[in-house]
Amino acid sequence: MKKVLVILVVLLLSYAAFASNQLEIFSWWTGGGEEEGLLALYDVFHKYYPDVEIINATVAGGAGTNAKAVLKTRMLGGNPPDSFQVHGGMELIDTYVVTGMMEPITGLLEQWGIKDKFPADILRICSYNGEIYSIPVNVHRGNVVFYNKAILEEVGIKELPATWPEFIEALKKIKAAGYVPLALGDKNKWTATHLFEDILLSTLGAYNYNGLWNGRTSFDHQGVKEALEIFKELMNYINENHASLTWQDATLLVFEGKAAFNVMGDWAEGYLKTLGWTPGKEFGWMTVPGTKGSFMVVTDTFGLPKNAPHRENAIKWLKIISSVEGQDTFNPIKGSIPARIDADKSLYDDYLTWSMNDFATNALCPSIIHGSAAPEGFATALNDTINMYITTKDVKKALREITYAAEDYLE
Ligand code: GAL
Repeated sequence: MKKVLVILVVLLLSYAAFASNQLEIFSWWTGGGEEEGLLALYDVFHKYYPDVEIINATVAGGAGTNAKAVLKTRMLGGNPPDSFQVHGGMELIDTYVVTGMMEPITGLLEQWGIKDKFPADILRICSYNGEIYSIPVNVHRGNVVFYNKAILEEVGIKELPATWPEFIEALKKIKAAGYVPLALGDKNKWTATHLFEDILLSTLGAYNYNGLWNGRTSFDHQGVKEALEIFKELMNYINENHASLTWQDATLLVFEGKAAFNVMGDWAEGYLKTLGWTPGKEFGWMTVPGTKGSFMVVTDTFGLPKNAPHRENAIKWLKIISSVEGQDTFNPIKGSIPARIDADKSLYDDYLTWSMNDFATNALCPSIIHGSAAPEGFATALNDTINMYITTKDVKKALREITYAAEDYLE
């Protein structure tokens, strides 16, 4: 009997030791160009910490469609992962920091001597009351149009359209040639809102767009209505089955030579590369019409939840993702630029070099639907409005709803 007890205790102890050497990372990067980057980051982690077992806790669905709700339930239920993907800005601050669920990590960045190695604008949106709460692993660009070069060549589009009237002209030509002009996959609502916020940036301009978030610009601004009108016009050129496709499916239409353009964040660049395409060869890119000089910022960050079950391992994770090696491994695959300002630029392809140069010189604008600009309540309300609007095409109604949402959720 005693012997059995001893064996049991030994087994329990070794299980505890094993269990304590885990690291649970939560994200929505499950495939289509996203998982590849994440797994490469895990490889870097294991190079330094081979004994730590990573639990890859993912919930599928682009832009965190399903993951965000699961995460919130876990956090509120006192069951946090060790670290999780969260957008810098309101999604982090309003949802998890103000509510007291995160540990500040300013001290860690100081200890590692890298506090000054990130762009101030990006660290600012990861901060609250003078403390930093998460580490940016990348910067994605939201206002990009990717295109199938062969289709544009075939239909004779030599000059890239820089304005909405020029873009509509191009869409007409493509439609006449029998291709889908603009690929959209809004099975998960956010892709339509992603397109809308890019249009909004074009009609308002960076200064006024940024003013929406501090009260300088009113939602009565003519640019909001204009954006709705342009959005409505664009809906005449999308694929019929848009409501049953994901963002990857829409990007795939471009890859398969069925569609010409796709407005998407540059995770689509990562996806096209994992499909085997080379930037500049089979596909090209341009800023969303009317947004040259502006950079719609989407930044994925990771922080340290209070009561992380494997806190020490979570800190190791933060150290790896904030390192140049971690960032330079992850970002060339993910289709994003490194947040570290001292990254090795030579490792990045033509598209990413273009993005890096623009990031350094453009007006930076936080994305709504990717969590930076506005509290979650506003983003959700806008998402619902835009998706209803695709069906109703009722500008007045959509405008009214957006104004109400602003009154309800923005200070
Ligand atoms: C964004 C996220 C990106 C990418 C994209 C599509 O919100 O920041 O990293 O994953 O969603 O899922």
